[in-house]
Amino acid sequence: MRIYERYTREQIEGFGLAGELPKHIGIIMDGNGRWAKKRFMPRPVGHRAGMESLHEIVREAHCLGIEALTVYAFSTENWQRPVQEVNALFSLLTEYFAKEIDELDANGMRIILLGDIEPFPDKVRECLKDAVERTKNNSGLRFCIAINYGARAEIVRAVRNIVKAGAAPEQIDEELVSRNLYTKDLPELDLVVRTAGEQRLSNFLLWQAAYAEFVFTEVLWPDYTPEELRKSIKIFMKRTRRFGRVVG
Ligand code: IPE
Ligand code: IPE
Ligand code: MG
Repeated sequence: MRIYERYTREQIEGFGLAGELPKHIGIIMDGNGRWAKKRFMPRPVGHRAGMESLHEIVREAHCLGIEALTVYAFSTENWQRPVQEVNALFSLLTEYFAKEIDELDANGMRIILLGDIEPFPDKVRECLKDAVERTKNNSGLRFCIAINYGARAEIVRAVRNIVKAGAAPEQIDEELVSRNLYTKDLPELDLVVRTAGEQRLSNFLLWQAAYAEFVFTEVLWPDYTPEELRKSIKIFMKRTRRFGRVVG
């Protein structure tokens, strides 16, 4: 287990990242299957390689001092994959947390789950809940895992909760909806990165991405290194965000 120091301002400037870093980065970790296929290996081998990438990227986000990182690990649509692949993903995830939780905790990270974990096998659910519980008072990087997550399901859930709470129509505004989403305690989503060339959201953070910047890269997720993350952030930092206003 290791403690990772934050980068100094000089180091961050040395990366060409002087200026305001994104507070909240979302990553659609795509391309594990293609990575394995290129090597004539079964898809779960790609998922395992993807877990290694995740380890490095979380550490990098921590060292850069990013406030929140949300990774898309399993979508509500991913249940349609072959059952062996779904099971392989679950056991990898359980393995990931068993292996990493001490280090994540020791580095002050707080694990947050986005999505409905009820349908998961007991072992997976327990492991995820333990990770959340154990790190709930940490104040470092908020490491959010979107698992059995779909943005449409998230919005439907929010609407249900609002109705259940008995809100009157005129009380319903954007703030109330936002407060009923899984992301309620997180900073605004600034940047969405998708690896492996596809240019779509695939039901990831639809509400939250309203004014996010998108960076698409051809790099497959298992090949996405800390250097690639810094490249994506650099692209983000060159963008002009107008939020509907006239700027400059
Ligand atoms: C992303 O990689 C991981 C998950 C969706 C869980 P894929 O498994 O989608 O890889 P490709 O898109 O088939 O290459
Ligand atoms: C999105 O990737 C979901 C995750 C990365 C977990 P998919 O590979 O499932 O998305 P599509 O099917 O290409 O849209
Ligand atoms: Mg994919």
